[in-house]
Amino acid sequence: MKRPVAKPAPEPGDMVVPRSVAVIMDGNGRWARQAGFERIRGHERGIDAVRTTVTECARLGVQALVLYAFSEENWQRPQREIDLLFGLLKRFLVEERGTLMQNRVRLLHSGRRARLGADILRLLDETVAHTAGNDGMQLSLAISYGGRQEIVDAVRQLAQQVQAGTLAPAAIDEAAIQRHLYHPELPDPDLLIRTAGEQRISNFLLWQVSYAEIVVDDVCWPDFRAEHLHAAFRAYGRRVRKFGKVT
Ligand code: IPE
Ligand code: IPE
Ligand code: MG
Repeated sequence: MKRPVAKPAPEPGDMVVPRSVAVIMDGNGRWARQAGFERIRGHERGIDAVRTTVTECARLGVQALVLYAFSEENWQRPQREIDLLFGLLKRFLVEERGTLMQNRVRLLHSGRRARLGADILRLLDETVAHTAGNDGMQLSLAISYGGRQEIVDAVRQLAQQVQAGTLAPAAIDEAAIQRHLYHPELPDPDLLIRTAGEQRISNFLLWQVSYAEIVVDDVCWPDFRAEHLHAAFRAYGRRVRKFGKVT
């Protein structure tokens, strides 16, 4: 039996809900330092912000949400922090399955599998399979993800096809590269949100953000709440998107 679709509550006039949202969830370490805790406590508290953001985006009708959870460059962090982070990710995949199902969210993974441990891969694959029948928002967790690496991986597949004689170099166009991204079915983000104030992309979705609107919020990720998401959607609503054209 399908659950009834929750009606979005009325929101302040100028909030526009993007079709596709991407989030660089930054500032866990700073949050912990300010609170006098170890960095890992910030990551732990970040899970609450993930749950809030997923639930609220799903409720408001966002179709695709990509959350940057662990970058290819984050492998350079101390091993202890990496181990604790992956412990949390595994816990999230087990404990939040109910939330994903309740909100009819379909989980995906974006990133390279090579360096991921067997446990996290198994949990990712299980959760992806478990939620595959859901008809609501697509949620992609970017884990061991890098934007440059994603483009390299796509280009390598195209090169193999050229070598095999099944693809003419002249047939390589934007659509061909798009088709070989980790999740070609995901729409490009309309809105990219970054928390904790840093004004950079940090190798996130380089191909896909070419025309994304960017909103940076100073709040550290563990303190990110629905009100911050709404503020980002209001800022998005004020943007004039031109895509290179004259309006
Ligand atoms: C974001 O928080 C989470 C990950 C990158 C895994 P950080 O750990 O980068 O927090 P800051 O930037 O040090 O405050
Ligand atoms: C980006 O944050 C990666 C994630 C949020 C997972 P970082 O904290 O790693 O980025 P930099 O190092 O500040 O650019
Ligand atoms: Mg950071």
